[in-house]
Amino acid sequence: MWAQSIDRRQFIGQTAVVGAAVAVAGRDALSAERAATGAAADKSGIDATKKIRVGVIGCGSVSGRYLPHLSECPFVEVVSVCDIIPERAAARGKEFHVANQYPHIDAMLAGTPFELLVNLTDMQEHERLNRQAIEAGRNIWSEKPIANSLAAGQELLQLAKAKGVRVWGAPVVVASPQFAAMAKAIAAGELGAIASAKADYGHTGPDWSEFFYKEGGGSMPDLGVYNLTTLTGLLGPAKSVTAMTSIVTPTRKIYEKGEINVEAEDNALVLLDHGDAKISCVQCGFNFFNPHGHEGKAESRHTVAIYGSRGSMGLVGYDWEPLGVDVATEARPEFERRATDAEGYVWQQGASEVAECLATGKEPLFTPEHALHVVEIMTAARESQREGRRIELASTFKWPVVQ
Ligand SMILES: NC(=O)c1ccc[n+]([C@@H]2O[C@H](COP(=O)([O-])OP(=O)(O)OC[C@H]3O[C@@H](n4cnc5c(N)ncnc54)[C@H](O)[C@@H]3O)[C@@H](O)[C@H]2O)c1
Repeated sequence: MWAQSIDRRQFIGQTAVVGAAVAVAGRDALSAERAATGAAADKSGIDATKKIRVGVIGCGSVSGRYLPHLSECPFVEVVSVCDIIPERAAARGKEFHVANQYPHIDAMLAGTPFELLVNLTDMQEHERLNRQAIEAGRNIWSEKPIANSLAAGQELLQLAKAKGVRVWGAPVVVASPQFAAMAKAIAAGELGAIASAKADYGHTGPDWSEFFYKEGGGSMPDLGVYNLTTLTGLLGPAKSVTAMTSIVTPTRKIYEKGEINVEAEDNALVLLDHGDAKISCVQCGFNFFNPHGHEGKAESRHTVAIYGSRGSMGLVGYDWEPLGVDVATEARPEFERRATDAEGYVWQQGASEVAECLATGKEPLFTPEHALHVVEIMTAARESQREGRRIELASTFKWPVVQ
């Protein structure tokens, strides 16, 4: 999100899917271990044996959004932070009173014990670090993407299953009350037969780290991923993809780095075939001037629109920070605004939410299969651009997301 570029500068300036049974088994083992060490309830009222010890790797921009949320979560104890730039780990450790700071994942995994790795590193690093932590028996919350390809992601899920740990990844757009309102309107038949949908998300591009523009980065895994998750979540898993991608701005100026060459797409249009005659389109990029700025709440357009034979619907604002849902039908052709309350939903809640799930056995609405389906869409979109043809997809996920 754009607002984080400001956080980032300020920061620099200052300084498996495995079944529920596996989660329960992991939780019980955790409780037994904590009980043996005499851990008790703290002032949050949550029994300390239920708290999940968290290690955060990647202390850059987005950690400034995650750490406050994790610090407030009654199911979480953040025990360590890690960054290959040690000053960043030291700064976040000081800011959020995290006792242990490490300069490398090896030291972090060998250091003070924790159950959940929160991976907030460069997009290209997620897969490798997630694998290493799973091998060391840690549950994973990963910023997007969990892995760089469907095959690699599926291997991670198999490995997690073998190790008895869980893996989840951003984004969590399906957890918002606005997503639920849209899914329910579709399921109730309010829009008639669903025909098509479109969604867009862009800004003028991050300027604080070069990985966004390097191979394995790009506007699809950074921005389009939200809309792809929303539209597949609403219309169902995609069967095939046709896409065009391009690089509009071949060089960029990056903070403290200077000029870099852009390797990954900074402009993309992705068409999805969801089967049953439903088609959709996602538009994303790092060259989208937006007169409303990029602070989520300032955007009041319909950034997601769904059209059906008897009604249409628009999501007010961005799907990662939605403000409401407008629904118009044949019977009531004026837009009716619904779901204007966030009900506590924030886009950076994923790590805290999975900690709660590990502690209580609750299951989140977002799944790693859905995240990997979106990874497959993004790699297929690149293949479609390279080869000039439609690409069939192999993966799927449990749908509908909201029952
Ligand atoms: N910044 C945002 O607004 C935002 C919002 C949502 C999601 N995200 C996602 O969060 C992730 C991180 O983005 P960011 O903007 O915070 O980037 P960033 O460059 O500000 O931070 C990444 C940090 O990870 C560290 N790092 C890289 N490789 C590492 C390794 N092997 N071990 C330990 N530390 C390592 C870097 O030194 C850096 O401090 C990306 O996947 C991004 O798409 C960012």
